[in-house]
Amino acid sequence: MNKRLIKDVKRSFKEQFKTKPLIVFSPGRINLIGEHTDYNDGFAFPAAINKGIALAISKSDSKISKSFALNKEELYEFNTKNVKPLESGGWRNYILGVVAELQILGKPIGNFNSVFAGNIPGGAGMSSSAALENSFVFGLNELFDLGLSKHKMILISQKAEHNFAGVKCGIMDQYASMFGVKKSALLLDCRTVESKPYKINFHDYKLMLINTNVKHDLSESAYNNRREVCEKVSKLLHLEALRDASKADLDKIKGDITDEDYQQALYVINENNRVKQFSEAIKKDDIRALGDLLYQSHEGLSTNYKVSCAELDFLVECSKENPHILGSRMMGGGFGGCTINLVKKDEFKKFKKDVSKKFRKEFEKDCSVYSVKLSQGTQVVK
Ligand code: GLA
Repeated sequence: MNKRLIKDVKRSFKEQFKTKPLIVFSPGRINLIGEHTDYNDGFAFPAAINKGIALAISKSDSKISKSFALNKEELYEFNTKNVKPLESGGWRNYILGVVAELQILGKPIGNFNSVFAGNIPGGAGMSSSAALENSFVFGLNELFDLGLSKHKMILISQKAEHNFAGVKCGIMDQYASMFGVKKSALLLDCRTVESKPYKINFHDYKLMLINTNVKHDLSESAYNNRREVCEKVSKLLHLEALRDASKADLDKIKGDITDEDYQQALYVINENNRVKQFSEAIKKDDIRALGDLLYQSHEGLSTNYKVSCAELDFLVECSKENPHILGSRMMGGGFGGCTINLVKKDEFKKFKKDVSKKFRKEFEKDCSVYSVKLSQGTQVVK
């Protein structure tokens, strides 16, 4: 499927710009467990997937840069010397954000032509924006010989998201997209920004993503709000981040914070522990424990952290009703997007059919089901 994507951007680039471009592929990501822990300096367990953004890019001698979004058939022209966030700029802001952050770092770039296309469903919580940012920062680094390390590049992508898209995200998405390892998930320490790849044997089970196909408006403001709460509580605890807190620490200040803030901080502390338990369960080859941890994670996200929604909760309940499913939880920032499920291989088709039917009956709209392969991170395509 990605071959097709790459072929499409090559063809479109050639038609428009008549030169041979550099081709970059940058994947989206899933996250097994460790949600909303990244901006608390905690642990997460993401993996790059076989869906992403293909980018064709080359230098331009002209006074303007051109970016063509092939899926939307939208062309945007701008000058790299004068970039500001656009109101309702959509995909444009991610590119402008990367350009601006490069300039802030003293890495001025010239103008360029680019065509990109993607196959990550938008709003699904599979990090199409991180894939887009990473594709551009990686492509520009190559083209203009900027000498940036992958670690530097993901910080640029993250800042682009903060300053041009207005989401104060952690580092998980950009990290997983850039550093993904084939057939592996990455146990990521978001404080040191280092990871360890795990090849996980799910035995008779496989991962299924179910997309609610909804993205509730709340998502961005609520995301930033959750981050503020976490920072406020860790400050009250005189800790650098909630990663350093225990439940006992939190209980000491219970009387000084609202119950809502208490529940949210408690979620983060518990989720961070769950990531560690998850990696232990992998070592012991205990897949039932992996499934239980997924259900616990969802419970915390829904009732304590309050970032789920009716559609996501419904899908998780459908999984619980089926004994061939070991675990399920919402994935990503929340308020829509996907659930990630650990489903028995020979039940995959049947469950897909059942859950799709039930979802349609309940919400009068369709969910989408995907299976994904764990894949390599951002790379030049030869
Ligand atoms: C979004 C953010 C990530 C992370 C997740 C929740 O995907 O971009 O940094 O916080 O939500 O785990």
